[in-house]
Amino acid sequence: MSSSTLISDTQPWKELKDHVEDIKKSHLRDLLSNEERSQSLMVEFDGILLDYSRQQVTLETREKLFKLAEVASLKQKINQMYNGEHINSTENRAVLHVALRASRDAVIQSDGKNVVPDVWNVLDKIKEFSERVRSGSWVGATGKELKDVVAIGIGGSFLGPLFVHTALQTDPEAIESARGRQLRFLANVDPIDVAKTITGLNPETTLVVVVSKTFTTAETMLNARTLREWIIAALGPSAVAKHMVAVSTNLALVEKFGIDPNNAFAFWDWVGGRYSVCSAVGVFPLSLQYGFSVVEKFLKGASSIDQHMYSEPFERNIPVRPTFVCVLQVLLGLLSVWNVSFLGYPARAILPYTQALEKFAPHIQQVSMESNGKGVSIDGTPLPFEAGEIDFGEPGTNGQHSFYQLIHQGRVIPCDFIGVVKSQQPVYLKGEVVSNHDELMSNFFAQPDALAYGKTPEQLQKENVPPHLVSHKTFSGNRPSVSLLLPSLNAYNVGQLLAIYEHRIAVEGFIWGINSFDQWGVELGKSLATQVRKQLNASRTKGEPIQGFNFSTTAMITRYLQASSD
Ligand code: F6P
Repeated sequence: MSSSTLISDTQPWKELKDHVEDIKKSHLRDLLSNEERSQSLMVEFDGILLDYSRQQVTLETREKLFKLAEVASLKQKINQMYNGEHINSTENRAVLHVALRASRDAVIQSDGKNVVPDVWNVLDKIKEFSERVRSGSWVGATGKELKDVVAIGIGGSFLGPLFVHTALQTDPEAIESARGRQLRFLANVDPIDVAKTITGLNPETTLVVVVSKTFTTAETMLNARTLREWIIAALGPSAVAKHMVAVSTNLALVEKFGIDPNNAFAFWDWVGGRYSVCSAVGVFPLSLQYGFSVVEKFLKGASSIDQHMYSEPFERNIPVRPTFVCVLQVLLGLLSVWNVSFLGYPARAILPYTQALEKFAPHIQQVSMESNGKGVSIDGTPLPFEAGEIDFGEPGTNGQHSFYQLIHQGRVIPCDFIGVVKSQQPVYLKGEVVSNHDELMSNFFAQPDALAYGKTPEQLQKENVPPHLVSHKTFSGNRPSVSLLLPSLNAYNVGQLLAIYEHRIAVEGFIWGINSFDQWGVELGKSLATQVRKQLNASRTKGEPIQGFNFSTTAMITRYLQASSD
């Protein structure tokens, strides 16, 4: 396939389009009765079991999807990524977040240079600095230990670290090493978020980490100036040197802001914001909270998944057993393309059956929607098909009592069920038949089948359901899901899960033929906000009228100014 051909013009795409009719004739209820098929639609890697037997696929569909991967040059595109080619063509950048978790002896080139030594220089510096803070050898301006950390950042400089922090907060080893310490995040420019973040914190014992790839993001810089004032008001201007540090690719702006670049942790333009949690963006605040050794395990988990995709063939049959082995994140990416572009399901629900993954869906929402929410192919041709997915989710069972009604009887939304074999916090109620974790997992196992099988009017009639209620109580079923079963949720597993989703999203983009690594769509809103900001300022300081906007925006801003100055 030439680089200017759209994937939708290829033969495998057309074959999959034709294949949809066959699939629509089947029901998951029947597909699941074929045990050989189910056995073949399970794959395991490094302790993680993926069951995709509840996808609306047959073995033939899978074969066709791998043909699509071939014609899309998926393997070559992944190799280009790992080889540091500038696959983010609109920004002329490499995409090398895999280098952030590579082992010390790995060689990963970008622009003719092995970047791994630079990565490890920063990791060593993080380890050293975080140990100084944690041991009390780096203290605040009044000599007190810095027990509390506020990480200021937004988007990719916030969501990933928050997800990992929320998960580690439940892990016994991480809990032990974080004893007596607090990590808080400040993202929103809303003064409410500032107030919430600093409530109960003492500037004398607080270290503020400003996390921004560009060091120009309006919200982050305003929050950084706000907390600088908070420190200065309590401790004087010289305290900034002891209480504020930074993570950025722009060390010149860090210095201009007043933070010593020696107390800044670098990363590189080949790390996309939403793929930056394994850079100093996540590693530094998390090391301050949990210690570097815990965070290193997280990096190792991600690295294990990276190597799986790079070094192994995407698919192979194991002779004797009717087993099919494939790289699970590749498969997940292909299944997503199948659901979105062929079956026409635009959304995906991310449903972890563990409260530890409370912030996983919000993180994946950014990684997925900022990466693949595109309307043109990599060479700028408008796409004749929909790309990207609408991601949302909540931990189970909470979600069951919220939006699952729509998933069961309303729209078809492919679901990702994520379960954990061993809970980090086994709490047993004496006298109860099942443990709390078994109760949770009972739901994890039940929901995918409820979606797949549904309930027929005949079943309801046999149960003597009154005729006028039969249609209300009918479940059509045939609603697809995948189930991922993790052995536990320690730092290593959290790293694995992150990398699986990062790669899955990249695979989707590679198949669709889009650039998953730029984000021009967020720029227009930012520049319009700049115009509004200027006019708010001119109006408040010089009484100038609001101008240059349409009637409704002018009226709304004028009303806001009048009402807020009363
Ligand atoms: O929202 C757009 C975006 O550029 C994200 O991609 C990025 O993660 C976020 O803003 C924050 O940017 P920065 O780290 O430069 O402050």
